[in-house]
Amino acid sequence: MKKALITGVTGQDGSFLSEFLLSKGYDVHGTIRRSSVDFRERIAHLEGNPNFHLHYADLGDSMSLIQVIGSVRPDEIYNLAAQSHVQVSFDAPEFTANVDATGVLRILEAVRLSGLAQSCRIYQASTSELYGKVEEVPQNENTPFHPYSPYAVAKLYGHWIVKEYREAYNMFCCSGILFNHESERRGETFVTRKITLAAARIAQGKQKKLYLGNLSSLRDWGYAKDYVECMWLMLQNDKPEDFVIATGVQHSVRDFCHYAFKHVGIELEFTGEGADEKGIDKATGEVLIEVSPDFYRPTDVVNLWGDPTKAREKLGWNPQKTTFEELVKIMVEADMAKVAVERASEQIRTNLAEYLERGIVK
Ligand code: NAP
Ligand code: GDD
Repeated sequence: MKKALITGVTGQDGSFLSEFLLSKGYDVHGTIRRSSVDFRERIAHLEGNPNFHLHYADLGDSMSLIQVIGSVRPDEIYNLAAQSHVQVSFDAPEFTANVDATGVLRILEAVRLSGLAQSCRIYQASTSELYGKVEEVPQNENTPFHPYSPYAVAKLYGHWIVKEYREAYNMFCCSGILFNHESERRGETFVTRKITLAAARIAQGKQKKLYLGNLSSLRDWGYAKDYVECMWLMLQNDKPEDFVIATGVQHSVRDFCHYAFKHVGIELEFTGEGADEKGIDKATGEVLIEVSPDFYRPTDVVNLWGDPTKAREKLGWNPQKTTFEELVKIMVEADMAKVAVERASEQIRTNLAEYLERGIVK
């Protein structure tokens, strides 16, 4: 039975990749961090599976990595752990560099020190943010990098150190340059999830307005569940190579709002420009979306559009398995259900409080 180690197993991609590798018959090991509240919602359904194991380790702590890699002795490592929020990287640049840049080096060295350099294959989570202030549209494996945030600069180190170890030590390590990928498990502060959750709350009367930053920003959004398959395909390839993973289709944040609100029965119309732009409910005239400069970034990446030709041709991967419209639908439907459950449990609590007060239940 092949053993895989996933760092960042509690994250969006880590949870989907765990499911995928378990379905392929792997023994899956994941690293987790201690936190004051136990928040493992995305992998709760996997705990108890005899082929799923958790270990404490932190990308900032070499000893913990040496310990886990040396004891598990994995055939494959998927390094998904990162401070992954671009805006947060402006507030916590040193922490971001320590985890997203030096953390990658720590993994590579832990593999070498454990004597696994020639047996363990390593996948590194690189990112389309490396293209940053883009020098070419669409972007492919040969497009020059121009990182444009502390997050992207840190990830660029991770990307290059993987390439360096591949060439210097003949290790099977490679990077997936993944464009934005989303899902019903996406963190709630990334723009897509923020929009789908707000659309669901507004439709069910739980929120009045949504505040966003740059509505004109363009992204190539895919479905995370489809993208984890590509991480695995890259490690099954006959040689270690880097690949762009994207859908090849681009939309703006404004478009995403249109589609998400349409799914909950609200037709939006946008008026105004820049910070004065507003998203209005065509039926009622109510302003549902406003721009808040709080969500502007000191430098923003505004034109990401990937060319997945190499992954399609060499790995046989289908970039259009889930279309943009299907992705939005999956996310909105999940959030509509989540908000409905929240409302139902609120109602139960209200009823119970009232019954207790009136002495109907004791
Ligand atoms: P995510 O949901 O934010 O998950 C990040 C994971 O990293 C979480 O499990 C987190 O653990 C863990 N982590 C953070 N700091 C750590 C540390 N110091 N030591 C160990 N673990 C740590 O991110 P994602 O969307 O799944 O993305 C996975 C990877 O792909 C990341 O490296 C991200 O930068 C990269 N990426 C993502 C996208 C995308 O669109 N999703 C695109 C390109 C690249 P906690 O749960 O304990 O916080
Ligand atoms: N988060 C957020 N919140 N972004 C907003 C908002 C808002 O209210 N309003 C507009 N945006 C714009 C951002 O300025 C950015 O241009 C775009 O929406 C996407 O932002 P995010 O969803 O936060 O994602 P990201 O592209 O910055 O980063 C994600 O994708 C990268 C791959 O390109 C993350 O998953 C990174 O980890 C990943 O590397």
